[in-house]
Amino acid sequence: MPGVALVGTQWGDEGKGKVTDLLAEHTDVVVRYQGGNNAGHTIVVEGERYALHLVPTGILYPHCVPVIGPGVVVDPQVLIEELDALGERGVDTSKLLLSGNAHLIMPYHLELDRVTERRLGKNRLGTTKRGIGPAYADKATRVGLRVQDLLDPKIFSAKLEVALKEKNLILTRVYGRLPIPQKEIEEQYLAFAQRLAPHITDTDPVIQDALDAGKSVMFEGAQATLLDLDHGTYPFVTSSNPISGGACAGAGVGPRDITRIIGISKAYCTRVGSGPFPSEADPADAEILVEAGAEYGTTTGRKRRCGWFDAVAGRYAARLNTLTELVVTKLDVLSQFDPIKVCVAYEYEGERFEHFPPNQTIFNKCKPIYEELPGWSQDLSEARKPDELPAEARSYLDAIQGLVGAPVSWASVGPGRDEIVDMAGSGSL
Ligand code: IMP
Repeated sequence: MPGVALVGTQWGDEGKGKVTDLLAEHTDVVVRYQGGNNAGHTIVVEGERYALHLVPTGILYPHCVPVIGPGVVVDPQVLIEELDALGERGVDTSKLLLSGNAHLIMPYHLELDRVTERRLGKNRLGTTKRGIGPAYADKATRVGLRVQDLLDPKIFSAKLEVALKEKNLILTRVYGRLPIPQKEIEEQYLAFAQRLAPHITDTDPVIQDALDAGKSVMFEGAQATLLDLDHGTYPFVTSSNPISGGACAGAGVGPRDITRIIGISKAYCTRVGSGPFPSEADPADAEILVEAGAEYGTTTGRKRRCGWFDAVAGRYAARLNTLTELVVTKLDVLSQFDPIKVCVAYEYEGERFEHFPPNQTIFNKCKPIYEELPGWSQDLSEARKPDELPAEARSYLDAIQGLVGAPVSWASVGPGRDEIVDMAGSGSL
């Protein structure tokens, strides 16, 4: 059975949680490959609602092994809190595997994320303030501490000393903050170590053996294509690679191990945080989308910026991720509109851009070119097969798949796990 990657095609919050949930039914191993607790999935299993930030969704299914891969940055306190909360609700958390190569989010990363955003003022990125960027920066400059360092107090202490000396200089001299005492961090993290030790392992062979044995492995992306550090709307991006290629580096598999790549896209578009958003709707339409789509962040509770489906970004995501299919979520939310706008291209200084513009200046200043498609103005929540959708809704999905260049395999028409239309007649995700 092949590896399956699940990636967001927009700026995150596409509703990956529901798709993961349906896929997990036939999945043996679920691997998170990047990001940290900046993510947030809400999943409803047997009527119970779970908001997961760091732990892979596989934890909720008895037959699944959940893996936090080497490409993830881990705040151990958050991980322990999440495991405890799940444990209290009767979820077996003992099976969670945590890569020893994953990097640790340290208290100074959190502090630096907060103070740099404050200093940037109106130029701030609008990060989740979870320490993600500073932790990945330390990984790249090779002063990061890794999960495996928790298991060797001497090494942990030595590495912490090197990193903290510089961080305290920055915190005190650049930002006028108090230094963070080494002893305090050591005590706290070595206590975390005791709790996490049973989960820490080399996750590479676990994933590889599962693939070799023909088991199904799902690579669960957090954030999304346009937040990718290398390919997104830099600098308004996250500090890792959510694209499908990122699954190889972040989980420790080769490109040929992943043969199904599912892109998740809302039927419209949202973004949280700062940065350009060509198809952002006018305030009145945006408000309707916010209310109808309950567009508030799972992690920070921030109201999301809302706009129309952006086919230029969709095409870009289809190509970058080599999508084999597209799952469209929240189609029901568009029942509020007639006609419905779709951004088919951008315009900048008289030039039409069908593909993602080559530089940030153009992307920042371009105007959306819209086509209007007829709405359907009716409830979709009972539809399960394509012919149970209004003709206009089917045409809308046809238009999206034509514009993006990837077939729409499923379309979600409500928050419930069964509120989804099997567009390809495949029977199950
Ligand atoms: P960071 O990942 O906390 O550094 O934030 C960088 C950017 O990514 C900000 O614009 C965040 O709002 C955005 N971001 C990070 N995680 C998510 C997510 O899970 N969904 C949507 N946006 C996110």
